[in-house]
Amino acid sequence: MKKLIIASMLILLAGTLAGQQPGTASISNRPQDQLVTVSTANTHLIYRVSGRDGRLYQAYLGKKLSSPDAILQSRTRELQAYPGYGAGSLFEPAIRITHNDGNPSLDLIYRGYTTDKPDANRTNMHIMLSDTIYNVNVTLHITAFSKEDVIEQWTEIVHNEAKPVTIFLYASSMLNFDAGSYWLAQFHGDWAEEMKSVETQLTSGIKIIDTKLGTRAHMYQTPVFMLSLNGKAGENEGDVVAGTLGWSGNFQFMFEIDELNTLRIRSGINPFASEYMLYPRKSFKTPSFIFTFSSTGKGAASRNLHAWARNYGLLDGNGQRMTLLNNWETTYFDFNEQKLAGLLDDTKKMGLDVFLLDDGWFANKYPRNNDMAGLGDWQENKAKLPNGLGYLVKEADAKGVKFGIWIEPEMVNPKSELYEKHPEWVLKFPNRQEVYYRNQLVLDLSNPEVMDFVYSTVDGMLTKYPGIAFIKWDCNSMIMNPYSAYLKDRQSHLYVDYVNNLYSVLEKLRKKYPRLPVMLCSGGGGRVDYGALKYFTEFWASDNTDPLERIYIQWGYSYFFPSVSVCNHITSWGKQSLKFRTDVAMMGKMGYDIQVNELNEKELKFSQDAIANYRRLSEVIWKGDLYRLVSPYESDRAVLMYVNESKTKAVLFAYTLNARYGETFGKVRLQGLDPAKTYRIQEINIFSEARRMGPPDSGRSYSGDYLMKIGINAGSPTPLTSAVYEISE
Ligand code: GLA
Repeated sequence: MKKLIIASMLILLAGTLAGQQPGTASISNRPQDQLVTVSTANTHLIYRVSGRDGRLYQAYLGKKLSSPDAILQSRTRELQAYPGYGAGSLFEPAIRITHNDGNPSLDLIYRGYTTDKPDANRTNMHIMLSDTIYNVNVTLHITAFSKEDVIEQWTEIVHNEAKPVTIFLYASSMLNFDAGSYWLAQFHGDWAEEMKSVETQLTSGIKIIDTKLGTRAHMYQTPVFMLSLNGKAGENEGDVVAGTLGWSGNFQFMFEIDELNTLRIRSGINPFASEYMLYPRKSFKTPSFIFTFSSTGKGAASRNLHAWARNYGLLDGNGQRMTLLNNWETTYFDFNEQKLAGLLDDTKKMGLDVFLLDDGWFANKYPRNNDMAGLGDWQENKAKLPNGLGYLVKEADAKGVKFGIWIEPEMVNPKSELYEKHPEWVLKFPNRQEVYYRNQLVLDLSNPEVMDFVYSTVDGMLTKYPGIAFIKWDCNSMIMNPYSAYLKDRQSHLYVDYVNNLYSVLEKLRKKYPRLPVMLCSGGGGRVDYGALKYFTEFWASDNTDPLERIYIQWGYSYFFPSVSVCNHITSWGKQSLKFRTDVAMMGKMGYDIQVNELNEKELKFSQDAIANYRRLSEVIWKGDLYRLVSPYESDRAVLMYVNESKTKAVLFAYTLNARYGETFGKVRLQGLDPAKTYRIQEINIFSEARRMGPPDSGRSYSGDYLMKIGINAGSPTPLTSAVYEISE
């Protein structure tokens, strides 16, 4: 039911009080001021419409207030909620537009808001702003997810000038903070070293986290951050804002601290080389900025985002997932039908659900026998697969497993028939030499013909082989040659149109194949964000599967993404025991990429048992609340646990990474249990040949109260050992 709430049409004289800083509201009690309040179960985001100048100011963001009206008496400094360039603010604006007559300013006045409630948990709010003189309307859309304590913000811009206007900057969100100090945890990396976390204090001036890579856009920076107010927050204490942008292209987070120590965070598409010509009456929608505020530290902030993601952000977030055997690291490009048939047998033997055939199965004129050729020619390679994919789908079915396939449909090798046939579909400068990344180029998704090609490549395959039960969608190159033959004089639309058109293709595919599991991959985790994840059931976290490295990588993702979305495979990277590798992979969506026939009898048995344990406990691991107990960034071990909603079952993972001479590890206090319940601790995934953690609490029963106040021994002084405990009421 759509309910229109008082749209107060404030036609007010804009004026600046003498001596007051432009862009800030007066701080005296003004009865004509009005509050616009967004609330979740525990958070308030409150705007104040100034009776003095008609502008919208952010008055509060934080822990829910018992009487928000107290804000009307507030004497804190307030900054414009969405300042236009040229409207008095001396700091970074949220939006910048040049009008038809060349005037580069935008002065946005509050015009009212509407709300609607799609269900009991969600409230949508649409706050309307428009310029005092020019016919430009900006709507701030806000969705409050009550029980998850998550707020989603995005912006829509429409104008009615005679000719197109150019928008140079178009933030999704602008948030203001007035704290004593600000600590920013950022997450960055590279291929095989995703999501490294660094936390630093912000100082006066601007800090920007961004990307300009276009595709594989998050290879160096993931669009996520955690901001702690008034000192570094812990897992269970401190005020924290965890934010993320749902956009798979160039993004930018800008953190600006002014002379009064006020912080503005602007989130959105990176304005770099992306000014957009907006036609009259056409709307420009920004991607969503999704955030949560926690007054009880980072742990709760992560749990809020996880719950939100499972319910709203990730495709089929509360559904089931398949365990898989992948052939990438075991065969690379070197396989044939017979080898693959053997791998189908191995999938069955291990007790896994699906065999995923990776790169190398396609192209004939320029066969895909390495990464130099063939991308774009999505026909089965006749030498490797004389009987086509159909044979493998059938064989899989006969053996009682499912079949999945790798594809990279947005890319092309110059050595391909596609390139020969459609050089105009490729992003490249008309008069410069092509620059390659992994010997490949990016197709021009701003071109509707290319959108059709990408759609029909995937749809064609699924139509021809309806038995395909899983897809891994890869994207290995960034845009090295940002020029589209199709866009002609609108080159600065490329980065934006590419992503929006990719989403349109995915949307169309999802209409036809709503539940097919698809793994999001981008040379590892080069495209992990909630813009893409609405179309994907899971993502490949990193090509680095060395379990020691993985503990850090998975730890990084765990701040923002639920474990059900994080694919972890047991491979032969790293020198750790099979048990250690298995325990690390089990923390999320477990899979395998190993030579099953090289496992000895004990290893095979251990793996089969571990897979059975995983099946039994996956509901807790995927959907339980995550508690990070001991951080690998702060100690020589890593310990975390998942607890189910009814607090009857938990799984604890403990890893010893290193140990100094004489170093001792104390007990680990558990979290999230019911103090009144009694729990039995049972070690699982025991591999007799791997060193056991000790001294074991396995087999003992304790109250939740004891476990949370005293804890268990979940550490051993032996480096590279691990233990998994099943904790049951
Ligand atoms: C990327 C992926 C890998 C694998 C290869 C295939 O690097 O991250 O998992 O699929 O491509 O070429």
